[in-house]
Amino acid sequence: MTGEPKDVLNAGDGDGAEVADGEIVEARQLAEEAVEETVLPDESPLAGLTGTPGIAKPDPILVADGVGRSFGGLKAVDVAHLEIQRGTITSLIGPNGAGKTTLFNLLTGFDRADTGTWSFDGVPVSGLPAHKVARRGMVRTFQLTKALTRLTVLDNMKLAAVGQRGENFFNALVPPLWRPQEAGLEKHAMVLLERFKLAHMRDSFAGELSGGQRKLLEMARALMVGPSMVMLDEPMAGVNPALTQSLLGHVKALRDEGMTVLFVEHDMDVVMGISDWVVCMAQGQVIAEGTPDQIRSNRAVIDAYLGTRYDEPGAEE
Ligand SMILES: Nc1ncnc2c1ncn2[C@@H]1O[C@H](COP(=O)(O)OP(=O)(O)OP(=O)(O)O)[C@@H](O)[C@H]1O
Ligand SMILES: [Mg+2]
Repeated sequence: MTGEPKDVLNAGDGDGAEVADGEIVEARQLAEEAVEETVLPDESPLAGLTGTPGIAKPDPILVADGVGRSFGGLKAVDVAHLEIQRGTITSLIGPNGAGKTTLFNLLTGFDRADTGTWSFDGVPVSGLPAHKVARRGMVRTFQLTKALTRLTVLDNMKLAAVGQRGENFFNALVPPLWRPQEAGLEKHAMVLLERFKLAHMRDSFAGELSGGQRKLLEMARALMVGPSMVMLDEPMAGVNPALTQSLLGHVKALRDEGMTVLFVEHDMDVVMGISDWVVCMAQGQVIAEGTPDQIRSNRAVIDAYLGTRYDEPGAEE
């Protein structure tokens, strides 16, 4: 019985990863090694909490209430209450179509909620456009990377900072208009590119990068505004196993530097290994949350995955 839930969750859905079986096995081994390095400290503020959906956290950086978004007759997001603890890695899991990306879009101002309010670091941010949310310190990456393929890696970095400050996009494309701040921006960009091992690609077009390097660029771009919370939408999808390991290291480093990470991921080994806390959505709602151990054996979570995998046509997409 105890083995069964893990197997169900481990089945995953192979989202976007075009790799050979051998590589998947290798990635699993690497992820399992990462698990051992990421043991939650006993003094974790979340250690004693029960896994009730919507449970209050000791020091939440993000608090959302009644967040709803419908597309036609479909309620894509219907989150009654959610709190994300500051300084943790929280994974957001759930079957395909559960509403994870839509929730990201709403919270970060890339889409408008029909209902709901939310605050970041104690300040209401519901209804603010994306660049204003980013300026407050909450940034996200995209499930499909948004790097501008016909700009260089370095220009992508600089533009991320300029764009997030809400300046005119077209002005931002004309170098003389942002030259005064350019030196500082470039320095900051190069520090991040070094960190993500992309410095040697600074003058390459983003379109020349491999899929994995684009994921790294996406993460580096998000950090250009010096955020206190990063929301990563499937940062490992389609990435080769060696780079997956490197991305995992980067995610942990963000948390270790004091940032809050909210992280959508389908690979349960990765989720269980890296997370301080796991939130599970299904059909727009938060159906469970808890420590990785609590989630592993949570009946609602298992049912959500089983229901999607076996009952719904096209669930494997
Ligand atoms: N712009 C849109 N117009 C219509 N329906 C949408 C739109 N965006 C999302 N949906 C629907 O809302 C539901 C939630 O989608 P969402 O992309 O948020 O799920 P997800 O949990 O991110 O899934 P995945 O794991 O596959 O990325 C799905 O049924 C999806 O088809
Ligand atoms: Mg998604």
